[in-house]
Amino acid sequence: GITRHYKFNIKLHSVTRLCHTKSIVSVNGQFPGPRIIAREGDRVVVTVVNNVQNNVTIHWHGIRQLQSGWADGPAYVTQCPIQTGQSYVYNFTITGQRGTLFWHAHISWLRSTVYGPIIILPKKNVPYPFAKPYKEVPIIFGEWWNADPEAVITQALQNGGGPNVSDAYTINGLPGPLYNCSAQDTFKLKVKPGKTYLLRLINAALNDELFFSIANHTLTVVDVDAIYVKPFKTDTILITPGQTTNLLLKAKPHFPNATFLMAARPYATGRGTFDNSTVAGLLHYEPPSKSSPSASSFKNLPVFKPTLPPLNDTSFAANFTRKLRSLANSEFPANVPKKVDKRFFFTVGLGTNPCPQNQTCQGPSNNTKFSASVNNVSFVLPTTAILQAHFFQQSKGVYTTDFPTTPTFPFNYTGTPPNNTMVSNGTKVVVLPFNTSVELVLQDTSILGIESHPLHLHGFNFFLVGQGFGNFDSKKDPPKFNLVDPVERNTVGVPSGGWVAIRFFADNPGVWFMHCHLEVHTSWGLKMAWIVTDGKLPNQKLPPPPSDLPQC
Ligand code: C2O
Repeated sequence: GITRHYKFNIKLHSVTRLCHTKSIVSVNGQFPGPRIIAREGDRVVVTVVNNVQNNVTIHWHGIRQLQSGWADGPAYVTQCPIQTGQSYVYNFTITGQRGTLFWHAHISWLRSTVYGPIIILPKKNVPYPFAKPYKEVPIIFGEWWNADPEAVITQALQNGGGPNVSDAYTINGLPGPLYNCSAQDTFKLKVKPGKTYLLRLINAALNDELFFSIANHTLTVVDVDAIYVKPFKTDTILITPGQTTNLLLKAKPHFPNATFLMAARPYATGRGTFDNSTVAGLLHYEPPSKSSPSASSFKNLPVFKPTLPPLNDTSFAANFTRKLRSLANSEFPANVPKKVDKRFFFTVGLGTNPCPQNQTCQGPSNNTKFSASVNNVSFVLPTTAILQAHFFQQSKGVYTTDFPTTPTFPFNYTGTPPNNTMVSNGTKVVVLPFNTSVELVLQDTSILGIESHPLHLHGFNFFLVGQGFGNFDSKKDPPKFNLVDPVERNTVGVPSGGWVAIRFFADNPGVWFMHCHLEVHTSWGLKMAWIVTDGKLPNQKLPPPPSDLPQC
């Protein structure tokens, strides 16, 4: 591989959407931010210079970061933030991945405007396992707030209530024609009849899983989270925040006298009220020759709209997930742990914290604050980085290693919720010896209502070996696990009122964050960290931190 250098200048940038103009934190004055393009095996070196008042870190979502944990990026987990006027060089090599990932800020809600695609091409002269597409197009979903998203979450955390929902979903930063004052900000994809396009979908939205579809067109899924899958055809895909999906779109063989909408809107399981809005873009066919319909005549063509599943279509979600399978062939084997060294059972869900005295809180019940937890522990970020504390053996006052590896009080997780909704708070981690093979069951709970949680693990891909509804049954469910061709990914939707089982080898020394990629749940504490110790061999150890690692 070669080394590719990028410079990210974090600066303010003025953007107008939905007739609201505001100054956003951006990379290089671009929104969405610049593309990182590299081949498998390349080294990527990104110099990030912070020229805004906010503290900043950047995370390379889904990049394995083998032995480069200092470059992972979550604030107070692997690094202290880059402060105003300072810079930090992220340096990592892409190994064993090809497809689409993305980078985003990993502090507070800054990722609402600071994000962009990572495009990983196969090694030179190595073809895709499918016919070479005519063109490749990144499609990155986001959310737009007319207000400042940092103020939205700060206020919500203060009053204990739920943060305001965004004002629009976006495709490549554009809300599209179904919102007021937005038709001029519409993503348009021009295609030629008969050609095949590789769409690189990224869900960078903060708080919503999304359905996506293109009217009158079939999509072929070929890759998720930068790992090839067995191709399958579908009209609609589901993509959670933190997930990426590569699709083949075959344009119709003849010029159709029509324009087609592509659209995305939430799959939302846990809400009483919905923001029913939909982001749309246009699929335009280029006229076959200059003499046929001119560009201006696009206006008069009929527009076809896609049908998207209902907002709470949990069975679509489960069926879609079931279709995703690894290639699991000799060229792309699925290295699924067959033997398990350590089994963990984690409940994920919402809960409450008491309201501080002399304050009124807008949480789910009288004088409570919304909270969220893993095994009833709501994770509190420390004020210095866990990875530094671990590396220099100074854990005291930073973190403790007593994360409960089974629920503190078992109950019927998906049945009648317990009366006590309170969570405990702490900075607790699980320590894994190098190369432990791990099985982790993630169980949704009904404490404040069942809800789908897209869980993201840093530093690893995992295999999704099982999923189901209701309570996980440790006797009946494991014999049904798929250890042959389970999908390999970095983010999985824990089904609403159900569970998933994942497996991975802890072959990457460092501190690895795991959290719900619904940003509001992360803010409420639905997160924890794993520490993976060094192995014996030199290539199994975490190297010392780079000299420019930011200090707190
Ligand atoms: Cu994309 Cu920890 O996040």
